[in-house]
Amino acid sequence: MDLGLRGRTALVLGASKGIGKACAMALGREGANVMLGARGLAELAATAEEIRQETGARVEIGSVDVTEACQCEAIFGAAKTAFGRVDILVNNAGGPPFGSFDSFNEAQWRAALELNPMSVVRFMNLALPDMKAAGWGRIVNITSLAVKSVLPGSILSTAGRLGVIGLSKLLADEVASFGVTVNNVAPGSILTDRVRNTSLKARLEQGMSEEEALADLAKTIPVRRIGTPDELAAMVAFLASEHAGYITGATIPVDGGVVRSIL
Ligand SMILES: NC(=O)c1ccc[n+]([C@@H]2O[C@H](COP(=O)([O-])OP(=O)(O)OC[C@H]3O[C@@H](n4cnc5c(N)ncnc54)[C@H](OP(=O)(O)O)[C@@H]3O)[C@@H](O)[C@H]2O)c1
Repeated sequence: MDLGLRGRTALVLGASKGIGKACAMALGREGANVMLGARGLAELAATAEEIRQETGARVEIGSVDVTEACQCEAIFGAAKTAFGRVDILVNNAGGPPFGSFDSFNEAQWRAALELNPMSVVRFMNLALPDMKAAGWGRIVNITSLAVKSVLPGSILSTAGRLGVIGLSKLLADEVASFGVTVNNVAPGSILTDRVRNTSLKARLEQGMSEEEALADLAKTIPVRRIGTPDELAAMVAFLASEHAGYITGATIPVDGGVVRSIL
């Protein structure tokens, strides 16, 4: 299926590796120009080259810490300078640490909330004026299955990400008549460095090999395997496409059936 993205421009945050990189690759494959953002420039540059080689897309990079407002403005400006405007915004970055409520202080709460929802608010603010003026725009936020189903230890992540869900639902109403959609994708276990450092870590520390740890984790997932970043990115690319114009304000799990809620 042609997703109708040729010539569109996407700004993808947290794009040097993992889920963000896969989203950028998927959008590049569909012919979109892509601006990649993350903090580490060396990894970004390597990722950009890989996407160019594999897709032939026009790819630019910018160093950005999404918790810093002025850096968000800078990368957004750079995307506009390079490509004219931003049609597709993929909000994504690393997640906050796991732990119990009493293990986090005020500074850690503020840092987590700067990531989610504040970085999402900032990029929405930057992107919406041009999207509304153009009569077309797609905003996709990467969240977590923790917004659908209790994930023990994810108190910083869950508190911040539910803010993203709420604001997206209300914003979707406000911008729908301008041809702009706002949706969330909620990953379950997707094989990236973050999963290696969280869900798999305890198993690896018990002496399991990565293969054994993955098999053990898979027992908790109805489809009996961990997901790939490409599987998550396929949903993001669809939500960014022409075909998804009637989907807005939605939060869609890509989790192999893990979420237990019916609605
Ligand atoms: N993988 C999963 O199974 C899973 C499940 C549920 C939710 N999620 C969520 O999905 C998102 C992506 O996860 P992932 O697994 O792809 O993580 P990952 O492999 O660790 O990649 C994170 C990406 O975000 C960038 N990043 C981190 N902090 C940033 C910041 N402050 N500003 C700008 N860029 C930043 C990283 O590059 P730099 O470090 O160079 O900045 C990297 O490119 C996270 O929010 C994660 O919590 C993932």
